[in-house]
Order: sequence, then C-alpha cells, then structure tokens
Amino acid sequence: MHLTALLSSIPLIYASHLPSPQHIFSNPPSTDPTYKIPTVHESAIQARRILHLENIGTLSTIFPASSHSSSIDVSENRPSDVGGAPIGLMDYFADCEADSGNPTILAIKIATSFKNTAAGSNITLSLRWHPPYPSHRPYSAAAIPRFSLIGYLEDISPTEILTHAIPPCFVKSHPDAAAWLPGNRIHESSFVRLVVQEVYWIGGFGDRAYIGWIPVETWKNVTGEEIEACRLPGEKTQAKGKKDGWRAGWRSWLGLGGAGAEEEGVEGWEL
Ligand SMILES: *[C@@H]1O[C@H](CO)[C@@H](O)[C@H](O)[C@H]1NC(C)=O
Ligand SMILES: *[C@@H]1O[C@H](CO)[C@@H](O)[C@H](O)[C@H]1NC(C)=O
Repeated sequence: MHLTALLSSIPLIYASHLPSPQHIFSNPPSTDPTYKIPTVHESAIQARRILHLENIGTLSTIFPASSHSSSIDVSENRPSDVGGAPIGLMDYFADCEADSGNPTILAIKIATSFKNTAAGSNITLSLRWHPPYPSHRPYSAAAIPRFSLIGYLEDISPTEILTHAIPPCFVKSHPDAAAWLPGNRIHESSFVRLVVQEVYWIGGFGDRAYIGWIPVETWKNVTGEEIEACRLPGEKTQAKGKKDGWRAGWRSWLGLGGAGAEEEGVEGWEL
C-alpha cells in the first residue's frame, strides 16, 4: 500500500470506532427524538456541576481601541492593530458563590484579561468537562459538554469575602494561588465575580445533547442538591464499581447503543 493511501486510511480506522451522530452541531427537529435529549433545566444542572468540578477555563476579553499615547500600549509594546480584537487566555476560577453560580476569579491587575476589563471590556468564561477516561482510548471531544458564561466582572466586597469564605474556597481549588492572594507582595490582585448574564451551552452531539442558550434564571436556580445528584458523562459514582445512570448511559451518550453494549465487548469507548 502506498504511504499516502495508508495515511489516508488512518482517520477511517478511528472513525469506525466513533459513533455516527445524525446531528453534530445542532439539535434535530423535536419530532424526531432518536435519543432522549436533556432538557434545558437538566443541561443547566450539568453546566453547574461542571463549574463545580472544573477549575480552569478560558477568559475572553476585547482589547480597547488603541491610543498610541496610552501607558499600557507603551509599557507592553502592544501592537496598534489589536484594538477591538478578542483575546482568550487561560485562567483560574472557583465555584465559591453557590447561590448565584457566578464564578469567582482572582484578578491580577497587570494581566491582560483584567487590563481589558478595566478598560471597559465585558468578559466570557469558557470551560469544558474533562471526563476521567483513560488516555489510551480514542474519544471524541466534540461529544463532551462545554459552555460559555457571558457577563462582566464585579468586585467582591470585603464583607462578602468574609461571609462567603472566598480565600479558603479559592485556595482549595488552587493551592498555588495562595502566593498571589490579595495583599501579597508580588502582584496587585483582588477577588472578583463574573456576573453571569448569558449562558451558551453545547452538551455534545446535537442528536443527544441540548445545544443552545440557557436562560440565566435557569442557570441561577439550580440547587446544590441537583448539582450533587447529577453525574456527567464518564463520571464514576462514589460506590466503587457501581454504575449509575450517567455512567451506564455513557455508551448511548456517545452513540454506541444502550448499556447492554458494555457486555458485548465493544472496544474503544470504555472508561
Ligand atoms: C457589555 O455588555 C452590556 C450588556 O450586558 C452592553 O450593554 C455593553 O455595551 C457591553 N460593553 C462593551 C464595552 O461592549
Ligand atoms: C428553575 O427554573 C426552571 C425554568 O426556568 C424551572 O423549570 C425549574 O423548576 C426551576 N427550578 C427551581 C428549583 O426553582
């Protein structure tokens, strides 16, 4: 076999292990329910659980219009043509305000995301669920939930920092961040909340997951009990070896038939 033919067959080998979703990036008409698609409310619960279990995401902000005389442009030698351009940067967050679902962020004054918000930019936090699958199994990241929280930053008042126990909550998620908590001698920093105004959710392939906007009230009114009871695709239950709804449904979530497929030795998608 020619090398090119060999190489071009590789994606097909992988593709043969993958489910063949009928709708990848959109939901099917509601009259055609091949799978039970989680409701918007159930999707909100999943999203809130992801916010609770993950702790790193991407903050997107917009560069302000360039002014050649601005001290920032001069001090960081910022190119003059980035004004109005979006930039996404990795950052830490923590789920410390369970009543609202507003993520807590430690804003470092000299970091680009916070320079941009100080200059008037709104902000979006994008994150995704990382299921605990073994690395040697092929998987489709496109089937895994991810979402974006769109809003603006707001200072958390000293009283709220105390009542919500923000520093211990944040350091529990990020032990290394203890070095740059507010008051440290390296960088000026402060605790802020991303006030969520809009939520855009992509639960996975569109024939088995909701894709679309989640009303912010639905995002906010998810309860701690609902977050606790929810299991995300690939998540294990606490009882060792016992399979719960989501775990048992992992294969059907990925389009490999029902939980019964587990016994048939279908390779490639086991956790
Ligand atoms: C930020 O978002 C609000 C809507 O929530 C909008 O009115 C405002 O213009 C936005 N600010 C910028 C700088 O885009
Ligand atoms: C949250 O809001 C949704 C509608 O947006 C509603 O269906 C659901 O019952 C509410 N849940 C609670 C706990 O209030």
